[in-house]
Amino acid sequence: MGVLKDTGAIEYSKGLEGVIAALSSISAIDGNEGKLIYRGIPIEMLAKYSSYEETAYLLLYGDLPTREELDEFSSQMRELRILPKKVEDCVKELPPNPHPMDILKVAVAHAGLYDPDQYRCCREGVMRKVIRIIAQIPTIIAYYHRARTGQEIVPPDQNLGHAANFLYMLHGKKPDEEEARIFDIALILHAEHGLNASTFAAMVTASTLSDINSAIVSAIGALKGPLHGGANERVLKMLDEIGSPDKAEEYVLNALKEKRRIMGFGHRVYKTYDPRARILKEYAEYLSDKYNDRKYISIGEKIEEIMIRELGNKGIFPNVDFYSGIVYQFLGIPRDLFTPVFAMARSVGWAAHVCEYTQNNRIFRPRAYYTGPDYVEYVPIENRR
Ligand code: CMC
Repeated sequence: MGVLKDTGAIEYSKGLEGVIAALSSISAIDGNEGKLIYRGIPIEMLAKYSSYEETAYLLLYGDLPTREELDEFSSQMRELRILPKKVEDCVKELPPNPHPMDILKVAVAHAGLYDPDQYRCCREGVMRKVIRIIAQIPTIIAYYHRARTGQEIVPPDQNLGHAANFLYMLHGKKPDEEEARIFDIALILHAEHGLNASTFAAMVTASTLSDINSAIVSAIGALKGPLHGGANERVLKMLDEIGSPDKAEEYVLNALKEKRRIMGFGHRVYKTYDPRARILKEYAEYLSDKYNDRKYISIGEKIEEIMIRELGNKGIFPNVDFYSGIVYQFLGIPRDLFTPVFAMARSVGWAAHVCEYTQNNRIFRPRAYYTGPDYVEYVPIENRR
């Protein structure tokens, strides 16, 4: 029976660490140098000069758009923001208590049923489906939040860009230009990150030749977990628990002694400072000064100092989730929407990888190394004890 253990596998890697599972030209991370590029362009340049729409185009189509291409893409995104009436009604009726990530799963699956391109497999049809999902996720999140808090929904404003429109639909008033721009940058920074767990989940689903909505729903489920996108919300909870910078040392050392994770630190690929965290920290600093409220940033910086002192030699540094929550808090985004906002930004990375992988598709089907017994006699139920 030894044959059962002959997996034909080259090597076992827990959590698929270091395994190359696809060829991709979408993004690359240098985990030792702390660098991230989308289609070759450093993330710092995109944060400085690009917009979420332009970055989305770059990720989906491979090149920066011309002015005409960007205008066309942006107006397509704007048109597709509007939810079909049945989806809008469903979102408004969903119960107020579940975590909004669970609501997002349900609503994206539901929206797929009303997608006019649902059964189209041609490139244009798939692209329209993809752009529709990216455009609709912010509307779903904002409508749900307004409905659960007993407020009238605010329909999308076609004159606003992706980031500004989300804040408008959420708060019912137009954000100032600076806030909209900071949020736009946060979306750019979260848009894509290689074969992270949620992107991989989307690719696995798509590799069976399932549909794009199912792939995105798989990704949302994977992103929700606290080891992935769910970390951002928990960072703020931790900052509240700590309360002030002078309590940070005791909190962190106790947590490490008890082998608890400090949320917003560590990464499978980065063994140095995450470049996205560096940019988000600047904005967290800026907004803390602007609003003269340094409570969270001062605790955050103290935690960072202690963590780097204690675990920097192991390659544990702040990741994208550490400072994003402080930024979102100043933008008035409720805490349980931090991870849905991550999903809203990352939907483009999910879609780009699904489109790229399925163009030269092969179903994902790894093996497990069998560690059970070789042979066990079947015992009839009446003889079992
Ligand atoms: N706090 C304390 N210790 C940590 C942390 C942390 N946040 N992260 C890693 N370590 C330690 C871990 O205990 C282990 O130590 P030892 O070798 O002594 O057992 C070592 O570092 C390696 O950890 P690992 O779990 O093998 O690393 P991984 O690559 O499997 O996990 C991670 C990566 C992100 C899941 C992990 O660092 C973690 O749990 N971080 C906290 C959650 C978090 O912030 N997640 C967001 C990740 S970035 C954005 C995203 O993907 O959404």
